[in-house]
Amino acid sequence: MNTKRTLTQLQKMKGQEKIVMITAYDALFASIFDKHVDVILVGDSLNMSFAGKEDTLGVTMDQMIYHTQAVCTKAKKSFVLFDMPFGTYTDKKQALKNAIRAYQETGADAIKLEGGKEKAKIVKHLTQNAIAVFGHIGLKPQSVRAEGGYSIKGKNEEDKKAIIEDAIALEKAGAVALIIEGVKPDVAKAITQQLSIPTIGIGAGVDCDGQVLVWSDTFGFFDEFMPKFVKSYLNGGEQITQAIQTYASEVKSAQFPDEKYSY
Ligand code: KIV
Repeated sequence: MNTKRTLTQLQKMKGQEKIVMITAYDALFASIFDKHVDVILVGDSLNMSFAGKEDTLGVTMDQMIYHTQAVCTKAKKSFVLFDMPFGTYTDKKQALKNAIRAYQETGADAIKLEGGKEKAKIVKHLTQNAIAVFGHIGLKPQSVRAEGGYSIKGKNEEDKKAIIEDAIALEKAGAVALIIEGVKPDVAKAITQQLSIPTIGIGAGVDCDGQVLVWSDTFGFFDEFMPKFVKSYLNGGEQITQAIQTYASEVKSAQFPDEKYSY
């Protein structure tokens, strides 16, 4: 992949080639990930893995814009997705105003919002106003306080039916792709087969059109809570711990800086 990923390309990948998505919140990691992934999500998960908060709900538009601007400076090839913060798309007018801000103040290629059929009218309004919208269904982290915790969805027939209806409603409203989080794999598979837009799974099994993970989980930096679906591709926390210990002890013992690192 040598050119910038476009929405058209992502949509054509459905059923042909898996879409690789990861979160990033800064220019440094965006530049490392850029050549290897199709989509960089500036997720509101940054409120937890960057800002250290308990959930995603406290992040603001200003904060998301700041981080997305940083990502966009180095994301030359990947498609950049802006995550709309909690409370910024509660009605059509507010959603459009904030989505336009996201477009005008960052280089993001699309926005993402959480919700199913209850958000279809808002999604339609955004898409009618030239905003590309990714939906996010199943486990919706912004609902954690309302639901009293995180729980896997689609465990019974009624729930499964409701999630599939959500997916269909969002596609009809003009969503360009869907994130499916924390659902039983058979539900994600059924949605992926029924929709013509790509599905990106997180804790939703292998049959989605692509996968997304939060970078700090993926590389072993966030070990306070590790859901079953997270595979760590690096023990980053341990490696950095060893490195900082070595640095600290070399400074204390005046081993660093030696001649090699001095003018
Ligand atoms: O904010 C985020 O990182 C997300 C992913 C979990 C999909 O929404």
